[in-house]
Amino acid sequence: MGAGIAQVAARAGFTVAMQDVTEEFLARGMKAIDKSLQRDVDKQRLTPEEKNAIIARIKTSTDTAGLRDAFIVVEAATEDLAIKTEIFKSLDQTVAANAILASNTSSISITRLGAVTQRPEQVIGMHFMNPVPVMKLVEIIRGAATSDRTFAEVRSLTERLGKIPLECNDSPGFVSNRVLMPMINEAIFALYEGVASRESIDGIMKLGMNHPMGPLALADFIGLDVCLAIMNVLHDGFSDSKYRPCPLLKRYVDAGWLGKKSGRGFYEY
Ligand code: 3HC
Repeated sequence: MGAGIAQVAARAGFTVAMQDVTEEFLARGMKAIDKSLQRDVDKQRLTPEEKNAIIARIKTSTDTAGLRDAFIVVEAATEDLAIKTEIFKSLDQTVAANAILASNTSSISITRLGAVTQRPEQVIGMHFMNPVPVMKLVEIIRGAATSDRTFAEVRSLTERLGKIPLECNDSPGFVSNRVLMPMINEAIFALYEGVASRESIDGIMKLGMNHPMGPLALADFIGLDVCLAIMNVLHDGFSDSKYRPCPLLKRYVDAGWLGKKSGRGFYEY
């Protein structure tokens, strides 16, 4: 998702510093950006020159020095509280005091991320949807300390990116994943209990509810590890058994069947 966010920002004319832990991950991100922009070149919505100019606006690095002058940093690391906490502590030391620190977290508390920094009023959730270049929504999450000024700046930035900002308060799973993930988890229970085949479950939801993808295909697309992490945040956050992750989801993640990105999930790729 980080690559998608970098792409959308560069396309809107911003200079982007894209940071990741290894050169290999950065190269993978740039390859995804190239492929995504090439679709638009092929459809004659973008000239090859415009594509090259967008790519040239993205500078990659494995260290955070390039983020020093940023007016906003959008973190899109693994969905893990300990990892995100470390990143926010480190960003707080590295980037300019007036910069905004945003997280693309799917479910982790913005209030908790803000609390590990010296600038909780400038910490906010900017939750993009996959695939980032296509999906219009950015869910904007206000932590307990997020200021009105930070919110207003991020709302206007989101609009400049060509997206639609919708506001919500900090709560486990926010709105998007509080509603989406229990549906996906229930579809996995239906498969686990032998109620129907994967094709029937997905077909029923696609044809019956007009969803663009069935819930099992969507889970593969999102990543089963991400789905499990979000269910665990809902389960812990609400202490309610209705959010317990399906044992089949846990088993797939244990097996390394993480969906599209690993070549196997509920489907084979
Ligand atoms: N980059 C750029 N463009 C892309 C793209 C990408 N990665 N993927 C698809 N597209 C474009 C195509 O070029 C095409 O454009 P066009 O219609 O203007 O020519 C359009 O999107 C449709 O693509 P396809 O025809 O190839 O395929 P589909 O019609 O099946 O659409 C889809 C693909 C957009 C992924 C659609 O299946 C979809 O909307 N799926 C649901 C996605 C969804 O629910 N996302 C939210 C997930 S939850 C989330 O992200 C939150 C997280 O916290 C878990």
